[in-house]
Amino acid sequence: MHHPYQIRSIEQYQSDYQRSLDDPEGFWSFIADHFVWKKKWDRVLQWNFSEPRVRWFEGAQLNITKNCLDRHLSDKADQPAILWEPNDPNEAARTITYQQLHQLVCRFAQVLLNNGVKKGDRVCIYMGMVPELAIAVLACARIGAIHSVIFGGFSAQSIADRLTDAQAAYIITCDGAYRGAKDIPLKSVIDDALVGNDTVKRVIVYTRTGTAVSMISGRDVWWEEEMEKVSASCHVPAETMEAEDPLFILYTSGSTGKPKGVVHSSAGYMVWTNYTFLNVFQYQPGQIHFCTADIGWITGHSYILYGPLSAGATTLLFEGVPTWPDAGRFWDIIDKYKVNILYTAPTAIRSLMGFGNAPLEGKDLSSLQVLGTVGEPINEEAWHWYNEHIGKKRCPIVDTWWQTETGGVLISNLAGITPSKPAWATLPMPGVKPILVDDKGVPVRERDENGLLKGNLCIQSPWPSILRTTYGDHERCRQNYFATYENLYFTGDGALQDASGNFRITGRVDDVLNVSGHRIGTAEVENAINAHAGVVESAVVGFPHDIKGQGIYAYVIVSHFHQDAEHTRKDILQTVARVIGPIAKPDKIQFVSGLPKTRSGKIMRRILRKIAEGETQHLGDTSTLLDPGVVREIVEGAVE
Ligand code: WTA
Repeated sequence: MHHPYQIRSIEQYQSDYQRSLDDPEGFWSFIADHFVWKKKWDRVLQWNFSEPRVRWFEGAQLNITKNCLDRHLSDKADQPAILWEPNDPNEAARTITYQQLHQLVCRFAQVLLNNGVKKGDRVCIYMGMVPELAIAVLACARIGAIHSVIFGGFSAQSIADRLTDAQAAYIITCDGAYRGAKDIPLKSVIDDALVGNDTVKRVIVYTRTGTAVSMISGRDVWWEEEMEKVSASCHVPAETMEAEDPLFILYTSGSTGKPKGVVHSSAGYMVWTNYTFLNVFQYQPGQIHFCTADIGWITGHSYILYGPLSAGATTLLFEGVPTWPDAGRFWDIIDKYKVNILYTAPTAIRSLMGFGNAPLEGKDLSSLQVLGTVGEPINEEAWHWYNEHIGKKRCPIVDTWWQTETGGVLISNLAGITPSKPAWATLPMPGVKPILVDDKGVPVRERDENGLLKGNLCIQSPWPSILRTTYGDHERCRQNYFATYENLYFTGDGALQDASGNFRITGRVDDVLNVSGHRIGTAEVENAINAHAGVVESAVVGFPHDIKGQGIYAYVIVSHFHQDAEHTRKDILQTVARVIGPIAKPDKIQFVSGLPKTRSGKIMRRILRKIAEGETQHLGDTSTLLDPGVVREIVEGAVE
């Protein structure tokens, strides 16, 4: 059966791309016509990037869960919607059909209503990768509550900041979460986050690990007991949402200050995640899609949940980690479920590649048809290993470039349709108009000796799932993304473009690090280090790391050591884990007596970056430094 808007040839890609630029309204209304709406739109698109103000499908009314659940009940009721693989391979797996998922979502939506949650309320979700996390997310969407999922690796302090920023009155969590050999006490982290908080009215706790937790009377309730109060067959009608009503908030790191709450809309986000899911992966009915991301990140939102479910796909949810109980875990899962599409991060590929071929012995992997990567640039060595050892050279690899702010994939090849090029994200999706500009915002036209354009990656017009604002602070959204270059959305990434129009993303050009595919702001890490008693000042930069892509290198000035340098180093790591979470712990800490600063007091990060990369000689111009001597001291004391 021919899918109405799946691109099936390179010629079609070219003509669809052209049409999407010539007539965006006609192009997107044709696609949007295939969704379930309560009322269709009056206008397809209105926008300006100066405020910014972007409105897609204005006047339309819908509910995304009708598109992800109800509409599949006529023909896919008994098809698995979610396959769940637990952390421990010996524990029973779970299969949830579309019918069952619909019921569970309705039932939990009723629980939310019973607990006072209303349309527009912010609900913070802090859970491990269990099916109930998907149910919680969808139940929020069902009743029009705005979910804000927080990755299970963030600390109590980070949660507290996000709760305050979003003014969230409701939390859904688990007693604990299993991740590999670890047992993470989620509820107890929430309890710490809630010390002194008086806006949270209700915490719903799902039992996963059975660990003892404290339950505060009047505030905390058990998921299971609340579900018991609601009939299994209850039907909660989907709340009517305006096209531009916010669907969710997801916090992400920027180059300054605290993480910002990226806000996505209901209609545009739905259309884009569905369209890109079907086209990038070329999903065919019946296929099993395995995205290894955590739902705490945008990749999980868009390509474990909303994209696949709106397309009626079967999506696999894995609770654990790729290296537990051993480094063959992904391959076992692929064989067990006959996975057809594997979507993972370069950092996972590099880490598994490091175990050699032994974990692949006896693994079949013949079910695989499409491979994907996301989150960071993939190096050619990892690309080839993925292609040869996992895809057996039969599976196209899609290198998908996008961001929390973009909601879904913007630049990628289409599996088996448009050509792949190792380490290149290749071509823009229909509706996406990328451009490379220099630091003044002038489009780059000069090609380098390899025939490539090189510049800062911007997008010239809105696609349906562009972020609409940063929660509670629209000016910050404008400043961050729309003020650097006039009339352009600035991605924060640098890129190359070849003569055929292919893009290669080279990495962030701002002070955002990408550590194991996780975005971390250098300023955030510095603030966390500076919070440690005895720290006078710090500067954080990234350095190339074989597995993580980037590691975190911190230069720290302390007034004195507590016991000794090694002890102080450990204390600082502990402080960072407390303030942000273990993912932000620096890999290297170098104690210094001063930092290279210009006469105006600006830290010259360029020099610190070079030293962190292992460069000792060519540090560039240091003549504007207040005290050039400090550079020599830092080079000599650099951490290997
Ligand atoms: C980087 C993840 C190169 C990029 C979906 C971007 C990539 C940041 C790729 C967003 C890719 C993502 N090739 N770099 N295929 N995909 N990035 O918000 O620097 O967690 O700006 O979204 O990851 O990270 P985020």
